[in-house]
Amino acid sequence: MPVTTAVTTLSTGVASSAGDYLRSVQAGRFERADLLVVAVGSGGAVAIDETLDSLLGVSLADIVAATRLSGRAGQTASTVATMGDAVLRVVFVGVGDRSASDLRKAGGELARQVRPGESAVADLSAGLTDDQLSALVEGIMLGSYRYSEESADAEAPTKSSDVRLLVPRGAGGADDAVSRAAAVAAAVALARDLANTPSVRKCPQWLAEAAAEVAARVGLEMRVWDEKQLAQAGFGGIAAVGSGSARPPRLIQLRYAPPDARRHVVLVGKGITFDSGGLSLKPNDGMKLMKTDMAGGGAVIAVMSALAKLGVDDRVTGLIAAAENLPSGSAFRPDDVITQYGGTTVEVRNTDAEGRLVLADAIAYADGELAPDQIVDVATLTGASRIALGGVRAALYSTCEELAGHLLAAGEASGDRLWRMPLPDDYVDLLDSSVADLANVPAGDEGGGSITAALFLRNFAGGRPWAHLDIAGPARSTSDDGDVTAGATGFGTRLLLNWLA
Ligand code: BES
Ligand code: MN
Ligand code: ZN
Repeated sequence: MPVTTAVTTLSTGVASSAGDYLRSVQAGRFERADLLVVAVGSGGAVAIDETLDSLLGVSLADIVAATRLSGRAGQTASTVATMGDAVLRVVFVGVGDRSASDLRKAGGELARQVRPGESAVADLSAGLTDDQLSALVEGIMLGSYRYSEESADAEAPTKSSDVRLLVPRGAGGADDAVSRAAAVAAAVALARDLANTPSVRKCPQWLAEAAAEVAARVGLEMRVWDEKQLAQAGFGGIAAVGSGSARPPRLIQLRYAPPDARRHVVLVGKGITFDSGGLSLKPNDGMKLMKTDMAGGGAVIAVMSALAKLGVDDRVTGLIAAAENLPSGSAFRPDDVITQYGGTTVEVRNTDAEGRLVLADAIAYADGELAPDQIVDVATLTGASRIALGGVRAALYSTCEELAGHLLAAGEASGDRLWRMPLPDDYVDLLDSSVADLANVPAGDEGGGSITAALFLRNFAGGRPWAHLDIAGPARSTSDDGDVTAGATGFGTRLLLNWLA
C-alpha cells in the first residue's frame, strides 16, 4: 500500500464548516472522526466557528494567536476538544495563500498528522477551485506515501487512514477533482515504489514485468526487446551498458493510442536499475542510492499508467531503456567504440556516463521508427545538474521553444518545477572524438557536465522537437517535506501528466 490515506468528500450543509460537521455529529447524523482539521490562512486568518469555539471553550482565533500560528503553508499545531466524554484532536494546518503549491504542502504535512488507522474530517476546502482542491488532495495522498519492504514483524501491517474533506453541498466538480488527484497520486506513488525497490530485486527484466503489469491493468500495448534482440537490432548502447551484469538489459515499449489522436509524443526514460559506474567504478559514497538510477524510466511507466484515466487524447509511446551498469569480465570498457541504434559510433571514455548511451539508442529508435511529433526524455543523468540546480528543480534542455514553454508551465502548475538550461553551440566540439563520430564525455574536466550530456543526446533526436529533463537532483529526497517524502520522489510523473492531460 503505497499511498496510505484515502481522501473523500463529505457534504454536511450549505456552509459545510467544521461547526456544521460537529452539529451533525451531535445530532447523530455523522460518526465522530479522530481528528478535526482547521485551515489557518496567511497572517493567522481562521474562519470564525462558534460551534467549535464552544466545544473548545475558547475561540479558535485566540488559540491561533496564542500559539503564534502564522498560517505559513504546511505549519501544523494541535489541541484537543471534548465532545461529551469523547476527546477530539483539533489540528491546525497553515494553508498560506492557498496557491496550488501551498495547498500541496499543507496536504502533505496534514497527512503526517493522521496516524495509521485514524480518520480525519478537514475543514480546508471552503472556496477552493477544482484545481486547488486537486492540489490539496494530491498533497494529502503523496504526503502519506510510505515505502516498506515486507517486514519479518507480521504484526506491523500498514493500516490505512482516511481524510474526509468538507465541501459545500452540490459542489459539482469536487468529486471529479478528488478522483483526478487520486489518479495522479497513484501514478506518482508507483514511480516512487519502482525507484525505492532495492536493486537486489530490481533488474531490467523485473522492470519489464512491472511495466507488463501496468500494461495489462490499464490496457496498453507492450513490446520488450531482450538482450539478443537488442544486439541484433543494433541497440549498441543498451547492449554495451548491460553487458557487465548477469541480469541482461531490456528495452521496454508501452503504447497508448486513443482514437483521433492529433499528435504523437514519445517519452524516453533512463532505466539503469543500478549504476555502479561499471569499470569506471564509482567511489563508495557515489554509489549510494544508485538504485534510483531508473527513476526516469519509472516515471515513464507511471505516466503511461494514468493516461487513460486522465483522458489524455494524444498518442503516447513510452520507451524505457533498462540495463544494470556493473563491472565484470564481460563488461564494456573505457576506450571501447560502440555503435548506437541508427549507426552513430561513440567512443566510450567513461563507462559511468552510461545513461546517455542507453538513451541515445532509444531516442534514435523513436526518431527513426516512430515518427513522433515530440520526444521528451527523463533521466537521472548527471551529478552536475544536482550541483547546478540543487534538489528541487530539474534541468530542462530543449531544441523547441514551444515545447520548452509548455513543459516549464506544466512544471510550475504540477509542482515538479524545472529550470531551463542552454545548449550552447560553442560546447559542441568538446564531444569530438578522433576514433568515432562522438565521445560520450569530454576529454578533460571542463565542468558543465549536465550541458555536455544534453548536447550528446541532441545528436540522436534527428532534428525533431526534443526536450531532455535531467532529474538527478529532485529524483530523490533526504527528508519528508510537504508532498515530497524521503527517498524516491517520483519527480517528472506529475509534470508529464499535467503537460499531456
Ligand atoms: N547516474 C549518474 C548520475 C547521478 C549522479 C544521478 C548523482 C544522481 C546522483 C550518471 O550515470 C553518472 O554517473 N554520471 C556521471 C557522468 C560523468 C562520468 C561524466 C556523473 O555525473 O558524475
Ligand atoms: Mn553513471
Ligand atoms: Zn547513471
